[in-house]
Amino acid sequence: MNPMLTIAVRAAREAGRIITRNFNRIDRLTISDKGSNDFVSEVDRNAEAVIINLLREKYPHHAILAEESGKQGADDYIWIIDPLDGTTNFLHGFPQFAVSIALKIKGRLEVGVVYDPVSEEMYTACRGEGALLNDKKIRVSGRKGLNGALLGTGLPYRDFRFTDNYMGMLKALIKDSAGVRRPGSAALDFAYVAAGRMDGFWELGLREWDFAAGALLVREAGGLVTDIGGGERYLETGNVIAGNIKVHNAMLKCILPHLDSKLTA
Ligand code: IPD
Ligand code: CA
Ligand code: CA
Repeated sequence: MNPMLTIAVRAAREAGRIITRNFNRIDRLTISDKGSNDFVSEVDRNAEAVIINLLREKYPHHAILAEESGKQGADDYIWIIDPLDGTTNFLHGFPQFAVSIALKIKGRLEVGVVYDPVSEEMYTACRGEGALLNDKKIRVSGRKGLNGALLGTGLPYRDFRFTDNYMGMLKALIKDSAGVRRPGSAALDFAYVAAGRMDGFWELGLREWDFAAGALLVREAGGLVTDIGGGERYLETGNVIAGNIKVHNAMLKCILPHLDSKLTA
């Protein structure tokens, strides 16, 4: 196994242990808010510290971009970490959350790990080598279009500037698909698209750590990831569509009439 994937998997498991250990004592956790509807707990912080320590031990010169502690160092190798994606779910005892770790080398996603510590599902990908779930190859679904498709999304909850645009997209996609789900962990949403459990996904306003690993999973599982206008700038804009290629293209058609130029800028 790629040694950098091995260490990312180890770090994700360690973080997962901290998360599950605390899942039956959420009423006793210290929680603070980083902004409106944006919470952080000691679990997010401890899980992040464990991941960073492990990576640092092995790769002291690599840079880090982590949700809770920000940017550290400058290097061609950057680890992008969300120690607990789906914090709101976690804090409500709603078992849909994950650890997400990605490695970018010279601006290109090379390694991605998403770990669901409740179901013990480990999703992994290395560029050019396909995507795996618990060591078994996964593929995006074979659905031919929106007819019968199950889609995932994230509802606006912090930034409401584009809510009307989003509602237009939602209305169009509800009508044309078999259903839309809002599970609450973007990292897992991408992993589900990679595993063919959902046919497509879109969200506005994600941060790089939410879906860097997930985007590589979808691509390596044979899917397509673009920004909300169909371009390449999804990591920068955080406005993203993912899916098998046919579903992605059909979603894009429904989404394009509801775009604001600021969403692709
Ligand atoms: C959030 C989750 C959620 C998505 C939000 C993210 P967090 O991450 O991925 O599904 O809708 O945009 O911020 O804050 O729980 O790590
Ligand atoms: Ca997140
Ligand atoms: Ca998080």
